[in-house]
Amino acid sequence: MSTEQSGSPTVAVVGSDNHGITMTIDSIPVPGETVLGEDFTEGVGGKGSNQAIAASRLGADASFVGRVGEDRYADRAFDLWDREGVDATAVTRTDGIHTGVGIVLVEDAGENAIGVAPGANGTLDAGDVRDAAGAVEAADVVLTQLETEIEPVETTLSLATAAGTSAILNPVPATELPPDLLEQADFLTPNRSEARLLTGVDPDADIEDIDLARDLVEMGANVVVLTQGADGALVVTASEVTSIPAPDIEVVDTTGAGDAFNAGFAVALAEGADPVEAAKFASLADGLACTDYEVVPALPDRDAVELLTST
Ligand code: RIB
Repeated sequence: MSTEQSGSPTVAVVGSDNHGITMTIDSIPVPGETVLGEDFTEGVGGKGSNQAIAASRLGADASFVGRVGEDRYADRAFDLWDREGVDATAVTRTDGIHTGVGIVLVEDAGENAIGVAPGANGTLDAGDVRDAAGAVEAADVVLTQLETEIEPVETTLSLATAAGTSAILNPVPATELPPDLLEQADFLTPNRSEARLLTGVDPDADIEDIDLARDLVEMGANVVVLTQGADGALVVTASEVTSIPAPDIEVVDTTGAGDAFNAGFAVALAEGADPVEAAKFASLADGLACTDYEVVPALPDRDAVELLTST
């Protein structure tokens, strides 16, 4: 049901669920190195699930389309979605394959490195998305990422385009994308390293973010919202560039900050905000998500974002 019908913004998320294992560590090991870590925690993660939970906390009627295994990780995820008010009726349990797993290393400065074994996420297909077409087409905003195969992403964007639903593609993990995918997404939300990968620019090349974003627009993207960590975000179209500041906060753990940004952006758009206003709201949600360890415990709710807005 869209905002006009229910009064709440509706956000449909198509993507991944990963059981997360997070370890804090002095420094992320380089290849061949072993480093002793500190604490570790386990919990539900995955960019799709995180974004659906964040959208719900930020005030949307959120639904999630994905695949999990027949295991205890999946049970834990369904319990969480239930508690968080995320409609998970379009999440399918799959025999013979494990729920996705994400291993997250968080170093003292708050930066992270993540490895993901996709498991059941890799079995999400076009048919799953078509089965959930009602939710995708009726949503105010659809949000998808790249922790699944490309086929369900393409189907999501096609359904959204046909229905006139705004679609955000959060291109992570970044990979070379067919131009029509860039064109179909109304909004593309890479971070700096993802923008480099998408444009084929060397990770160490001396190039401004604005030029990366403009290159993505030239490649077919409609609106590029390039997230810049502590430097905020850029909203770039063929004719305009707007710089959005990041809130002044103490960073503890950046894991899931991008998920909070994308969810905040989706919720604000679903409420009728323009892309620049939506990116401002998203930037606050992103900042707040960096103030605590782990992902789900750190995802902010609406009150927290509004409190930060008023300070
Ligand atoms: O964005 C953070 C997420 O990335 C983690 O929850 C991990 O599972 C990976 O998907």
